[in-house]
Amino acid sequence: PLPVILDGDPGHDDVVNILLALASPELDVLGVTSVFGNVGLDRTTRNALITRELSGRDVPVYAGADRPLVSARISAEAVHGESGLDGPHLPTPTRGTEDEHAVEFIVRTVRAHPRPVTLVPTGPLTNVALALRLAPDIAANIEQIVWMGGSTDTGNWTPAAEFNALADPHAAHIVFGSGVPITMIGLNASHQAIAHPARVQAFRALGTPVGDFVAELLAFFADHHRERYGWDGGALHDPLTVAWLLRPELFVTRPMHVQIDVTDGPSAGRTVADVWNVTGHAPNADVMTQVDADGFFALLVERIATYR
Ligand code: BDR
Ligand code: CA
Repeated sequence: PLPVILDGDPGHDDVVNILLALASPELDVLGVTSVFGNVGLDRTTRNALITRELSGRDVPVYAGADRPLVSARISAEAVHGESGLDGPHLPTPTRGTEDEHAVEFIVRTVRAHPRPVTLVPTGPLTNVALALRLAPDIAANIEQIVWMGGSTDTGNWTPAAEFNALADPHAAHIVFGSGVPITMIGLNASHQAIAHPARVQAFRALGTPVGDFVAELLAFFADHHRERYGWDGGALHDPLTVAWLLRPELFVTRPMHVQIDVTDGPSAGRTVADVWNVTGHAPNADVMTQVDADGFFALLVERIATYR
């Protein structure tokens, strides 16, 4: 199986991504690392622990960065609620995190692994950037970084910027300049993956605790999207990362040069994607452009169904 580290800020869609990965025999999940983002680090970490508990899998969880490198911290309680995971009943986790810091775990694990490791960040890129700065040598043993963040077009947190990119633009700048192969899955792709009521119902119809949990997460997540965008469901951003690893044929990507706006004007945090290669710069990322949403949701339901 493909060795992966899941790094994120759970978060409704991060949780679905972790559950998808832990249910997939194609992947060897070496660890789950948390970062500030949707809510503060204490809560994103707790939500990672809750997710492990719910999954019944034995995977170590490590807490990471509690703030961005340079910019002021932002958060998204408006989307994910005060807990970061409002909606379902949240159990109290019975097991805690490992003592090691997430960034040290990433460095140690990538260095020691006999195979190149794939990093799957679904939040601000702070932990990944810190690992690359602490130990630049690890770049050689990272297979690729599959990141949910950015956008080739409009933002969702400012007119120009997507939340994960805006939450730590300087970290994104470091990662996109690292030379490590990157797949960027931005809003232009994730807004094609709407969890409308019939899709939510497919999880509920599984009649399992995890199926119900996912359905309740998605039902809550829909509220914000209904109000803000007028959509009949939430955009299921983060699970596109693991789905892309599992079933690349469901997606279209294109190589592009992507530059992050690290100035503090109105376009701060924008992932400026050179869609038409007008700069002539060599591509530094494969950018997802198309999603087979029915295929994606079918894969998700199939894997979530394996939790009994
Ligand atoms: C991203 O921001 C968070 O709210 C989601 O978890 C996702 O990673 C979408 O902009
Ligand atoms: Ca996220």
